[in-house]
Amino acid sequence: MTAIEIQDLSYTYPDGRVALRGVNLRVADGDVLGLVGPNGAGKSTLLLHCNGLLSGQGVVRIFGEPITAKTVQRIRRRVGLVFQDPDDQLFMPRVFDDVAFGLLCQKKPAEEVRRRVAQALAQVGLAGFQERFTHHLSLGERKRVAIATVLVLDCDILLLDEPTANLDPRGRREFEQLLAALPQAKVIASHDLGMIQRLCTHVALLDNGRIVASGPAAEVLAHRDLLEAHGLQDSPASALSAPGMVEQLTG
Ligand SMILES: Nc1ncnc2c1ncn2[C@@H]1O[C@H](COP(=O)(O)OP(=O)(O)OP(=O)(O)O)[C@@H](O)[C@H]1O
Ligand SMILES: [Mg+2]
Repeated sequence: MTAIEIQDLSYTYPDGRVALRGVNLRVADGDVLGLVGPNGAGKSTLLLHCNGLLSGQGVVRIFGEPITAKTVQRIRRRVGLVFQDPDDQLFMPRVFDDVAFGLLCQKKPAEEVRRRVAQALAQVGLAGFQERFTHHLSLGERKRVAIATVLVLDCDILLLDEPTANLDPRGRREFEQLLAALPQAKVIASHDLGMIQRLCTHVALLDNGRIVASGPAAEVLAHRDLLEAHGLQDSPASALSAPGMVEQLTG
């Protein structure tokens, strides 16, 4: 079953900046697609098209259904997006209200909402944060809340834009374990090639709005020269090497 199918998608921002140029991509259900590419490549723009927040020329299908004005509301319930910037995601004064928002819109019973909010916050390492003021949290904590607002909805597809940026090393490791245990199809845009290598079944390399390479993760990531040519690897011994010396020393 195809979770996401993107056909010949192009998008130009209102100011004339061309961000996507004829993108074709397919994500099967259960696949984890790593979306890599330099700053400005179009990764975030592409994710915004996968749940209809932007719509360009071309077709995006979710489980076979094209995203149109008619289908977008229904599709958005199936496709959760964690924004690159948590401040684009969070808008309520308290953590509970942000995480509960989607469930309350679905008119879920209060007891279920409380239970699922508590569970989602625990999943991102923020158990007991319900009553905290969102704007008092650190950036990494806000990022975790943003992730919880999507996890709580139990969507069929997860789109994650730089999910581990601003997380501390333990938070990154725990989040990777959490993602690995979630069965849904996922698209993860990230510069963290180590995480991409550990989590993704497939990788697409985007540059200047075009897919430069895509395929099984091991194959695409093995093209060191290609990654380097598109600004992704600064030295042969960087992210994709064996476990780090520090990890080995500290056991
Ligand atoms: N709202 C906007 N208006 C105009 N141009 C935009 C807008 N948002 C993004 N762009 C431009 O579109 C292109 C793609 O941007 P996008 O944010 O999708 O890149 P990205 O691959 O996610 O980069 P990064 O790695 O920095 O997150 C860039 O040239 C960017 O300057
Ligand atoms: Mg981005």
